[in-house]
Amino acid sequence: MIRTLARLAMLTLSLSVACDDSSKPAATPTPTPPPAEKPPGIDAPALAERARGVFKPLPDYVPRGEEPRDQARIDLGRQLYYDERISLNQELSCNSCHQLDRFGVDGEPTSPGHKGQRGGRNSPTVFNAALHIAQFWDGRAADVEAQALGPVMNPIEMAMGTEADVVAKLNAVPAYVDAFKAAFPGEADPVTFNNFGVAIGAFERGLLTPSPFDRFLAGDSTALSTQQMEGLQTFMEVGCTTCHNGVGIGGGAYFKLGLVKPYETADLGRFEVTQSEADKMVFKVPSLRNITKTGPYFHDGSIGSLDDAVKLMGSHQLGRDLTDPQVKQIIAFLDSLTGEADAGYIARPALPEAGPKFPAPDKG
Ligand code: HEC
Ligand code: HEC
Repeated sequence: MIRTLARLAMLTLSLSVACDDSSKPAATPTPTPPPAEKPPGIDAPALAERARGVFKPLPDYVPRGEEPRDQARIDLGRQLYYDERISLNQELSCNSCHQLDRFGVDGEPTSPGHKGQRGGRNSPTVFNAALHIAQFWDGRAADVEAQALGPVMNPIEMAMGTEADVVAKLNAVPAYVDAFKAAFPGEADPVTFNNFGVAIGAFERGLLTPSPFDRFLAGDSTALSTQQMEGLQTFMEVGCTTCHNGVGIGGGAYFKLGLVKPYETADLGRFEVTQSEADKMVFKVPSLRNITKTGPYFHDGSIGSLDDAVKLMGSHQLGRDLTDPQVKQIIAFLDSLTGEADAGYIARPALPEAGPKFPAPDKG
């Protein structure tokens, strides 16, 4: 109704301008325009339709191939995700660097691991990661199951020496042995390093954060504010969607950092995985879901503010100097990607008691 009135107002206005003839007295006075809260420029249903061509709403769960969602694996995976005892010093779990009550990050540029050592890369969020084409900034692990095996062995992360050491620990917790049997029925020896990754992966496949933007895509025209809709328009018009698209608003492709204007970084990115010259400084395009909550930004955590991250993207990836109002709008849109995880799903579970054979912590 308000919109129709506004259109009429605009129409009257343009007509009166077009037919302006100063010899004649002014026509009927133009009606006062409605409050400018919802400018007539944004047609929410049409914008949602356009957005659906580029993005997709989140599913409830990201299945692994054809496998159905398996509650026994999810419940075991949740315990393993939170279990600090699986690290060498028994102080670090997946949750130390990917805190589920902090949008899946620790807020640090790089994360302290075993004995406080830090790697060169920022800890990305685990939320919605199962949707990505591959895991890590350089995509070196194919999926969340394969990825979960990395940090446990990494000497500067959980620092377990060998796969056998991990399996020995799991076998020394009687309730874990039972839980692996229940989660992998029919396997003669279900307590394996690989199944450790499969269980954690099953849990991670449910770490999803539906957001106002998902409701907007699903047809709720009131889900985004005017500024957020303007930001969405800008995000699409300036070309962010070339790379940040799909269900993750990113996570679906690899691109060079500094595609248009070179970017200074010592990290060779995907080149380290493929050894291909063309992959130098190529990174997986990060998902922008929850991005207002997961700083600091970029692969090395060197960019503290989201304002700066967005401006750098404009200049280095698109060759555009975004104006301050554009950056503001885009960030308003990005905030509509902040979602909420199911509180029960991510809550820290009770961990089973260790048996007498469980090794002592090694502070090394
Ligand atoms: C000491 C901190 C630390 C611990 C502990 C840790 N991670 Fe990470 N995680 C990282 C860092 C840093 C990266 C990025 C490394 C890279 O890309 O080279 C990462 C990457 C990931 C990714 C990839 C996400 C993406 O967008 O590509 C997932 C998933 C993940 N970790 C899950 C886990 C799980 C599961 C565990 C426990 C088994 C775990 N992490 C333990 C620091 C940690
Ligand atoms: C040509 C591909 C491409 C385009 C276009 C692009 N990006 Fe990116 N974006 C990337 C890549 C690759 C990264 C990862 C860079 C890194 O961390 O080293 C990234 C990172 C980001 C980050 C930081 C994510 C994080 O978790 O640290 C934000 C925010 C971002 N982009 C927003 C935008 C916005 C807004 C636009 C449009 C103005 C845009 N991007 C355009 C490829 C692109």
